Amino acid sequence: MSALMPTYKRLPVAFSHGEGARLYDLSGREYLDGLSGIAVTNLGHSHPAVTAAICEQASTLAHTSNLFVIPQQERLASELTAITGMERVFFCNSGAEANEAAIKLARHYGHDRGVNNPTIVVLEQAFHGRTMGALAASAGTGMQTPFAPMLGGFVRVASNDLAAIKVLTQTHSNIVAVMLEPVQGEGGVRPLDLDYLIGLRQLCDEQQWLLMFDEVQTGNGRCGDFYAFMRLGIVPDVLSTAKGLGNGFPIGACMARGDAAAVMTPGDHGTTYGGNPIACSAASAVFNTLSRQSLCSRADPIRSAILDRFHTTLNDPSTVREVRGLGLMIGIEVTIPATEIVTTALTLGAIVNVTAGNTIRLLPPLIMSDDEASELGHIVAQVVNTLSERPL
Ligand SMILES: Cc1ncc(COP(=O)(O)O)c(C=O)c1O
Repeated sequence: MSALMPTYKRLPVAFSHGEGARLYDLSGREYLDGLSGIAVTNLGHSHPAVTAAICEQASTLAHTSNLFVIPQQERLASELTAITGMERVFFCNSGAEANEAAIKLARHYGHDRGVNNPTIVVLEQAFHGRTMGALAASAGTGMQTPFAPMLGGFVRVASNDLAAIKVLTQTHSNIVAVMLEPVQGEGGVRPLDLDYLIGLRQLCDEQQWLLMFDEVQTGNGRCGDFYAFMRLGIVPDVLSTAKGLGNGFPIGACMARGDAAAVMTPGDHGTTYGGNPIACSAASAVFNTLSRQSLCSRADPIRSAILDRFHTTLNDPSTVREVRGLGLMIGIEVTIPATEIVTTALTLGAIVNVTAGNTIRLLPPLIMSDDEASELGHIVAQVVNTLSERPL
């Protein structure tokens, strides 16, 4: 029996190494990676620039603490603010922590304006992480019930329903922010409507609410630009990210601009490891690789290569209810039972994921070649073909 707490239902595969878009298990079997460690290894496995940055920094200075100036952190903050237009960055170690920082920032912003019980609007199907604040912001009572009581200060509305949020301006005087994922990842790879986001931006401006984008999954090149908001043209006040930021080295960031950038003062928030020299060196290497190689622009061609091949290999189009997503967040909602999709794909040599019931989620790396993308699309269709032909 494993000595680990069984918080994950693990697949019986362990990997020894990876290179580019390929992973190799302990017996040497090769798999095409259509998941990137859940949107983390956007530059593929063992990327030489990231590996070199980590090794060099680890052999020079691993950690000093945030009691001192950390030049690698200053450099990364400058790089991120230059590309995003955000003005200030707080570094942490994960997506949930980045969102905790955003939640604290929004509450502080409210208190600074004399708002009692500052409240954040969150959406149905949202996923923001597993720490207590992020969990309360996430939808899905199943995930929350064992950990009740939930943190208060959130009000939940349906996604893509601007009228529902407008109603809150009449019923609640204590709203300070709206927090959302521009493409809801765990909730089924659901892009929010552009009109909705435009309307929300306007509403937040009118109400002096902060618009906070959780780009933990959508960010760092995945949606075809550095951050999805840059592609959509809707600029948030607060931006949280993690996952692909370190390409596998843990790091998260909460960025802010305008009034939101001036909220946090010394002593308000902190973390021992956040933005440590190794993490920041890794993230700068990721950032520079994304920039220099214009890798964000690969998202759409890879998406097309996967989906084109998927559709030509698929036997029965009625097995697919909808294809959703943006760039390299691909959701294929299928009509067949989802329980064996992941294991069947593994048997055929590919790593995929299923989320929100029966949506096949593909999060392949930006370094995937067109041939590999086509191979992935072929395998995913074969999985659907195989399972749809099985008697129920
Ligand atoms: C949109 C979003 N926010 C937050 C998180 C939590 O990130 P982490 O697991 O790094 O805490 C996730 C993880 O899947 C996510 O997809």
